[in-house]
Amino acid sequence: MADPVLIAPSILAADFARLGEDVRSVAAAGADWVHVDVMDGHFVPNLTIGPEVVRALRPHTPAPFDVHLMIAPADPYLEAFAAAGADLFTVHAEAGLHLDRSLGVIRSLGKMAGVALCPATPPDVLDWVLDRIDLVLVMTVNPGFGGQAFLSSRLDKIARVRRMVGARPIRIEVDGGIAPATAGACVAAGASVLVAGSAIFRAGRGTMRRTLRPFARPPRVDPPRCDAHHSPRPRRMERRCP
Ligand code: DX5
Ligand code: ZN
Repeated sequence: MADPVLIAPSILAADFARLGEDVRSVAAAGADWVHVDVMDGHFVPNLTIGPEVVRALRPHTPAPFDVHLMIAPADPYLEAFAAAGADLFTVHAEAGLHLDRSLGVIRSLGKMAGVALCPATPPDVLDWVLDRIDLVLVMTVNPGFGGQAFLSSRLDKIARVRRMVGARPIRIEVDGGIAPATAGACVAAGASVLVAGSAIFRAGRGTMRRTLRPFARPPRVDPPRCDAHHSPRPRRMERRCP
């Protein structure tokens, strides 16, 4: 049986003047994780938030904070984000020379570890770190901005990562242009965590629950190439959508 699909709304598309309220609304509407996009104006051409914002948001929800670090280097900031309340760190394979070391630091902080792959990055970089990660984030846009068009050509990459992961307890997350119309193909290819910013927050707070519902059960489509899903496993930070 496949892992339940988790929804991780990206607060990049939330109202930055009312972030706490937006985080509470999306969590109350059934979000499993809260996806926090950290950008440094160097690794990606945009600037967003730092550990103090994570600290300020922490009391607003018990939902796990899924912190996507689009920064280079990442290592000097891991401890501060961990102390601020991050639960899972995803570092980009392209962001530093020592991916294995970064993952080791994350593990030493007692946090879950993920590796993100930009659209042009081959999945082979995962070969020697599969034994120390909990998640692979396949970017379906070039990182840096919300509201971009989904790169459907990366469905093959999701399926390839799925095959590489095999029976390991590693989730595949997709990020960029995810909406009910694109989520189904991602899930069919092997993704089980859906990050969505614009498609969720654009709808407004009042309709959050209705907006999230189709993400939890996206329309299934045939996978491009995909092996059978691995067995579900209990995970500390997982919550199912209602
Ligand atoms: C892009 C970020 C995404 C972004 C997704 O670099 O990593 O998390 O918020 O936004 P949408 O869902 O609008 O494509
Ligand atoms: Zn992201």
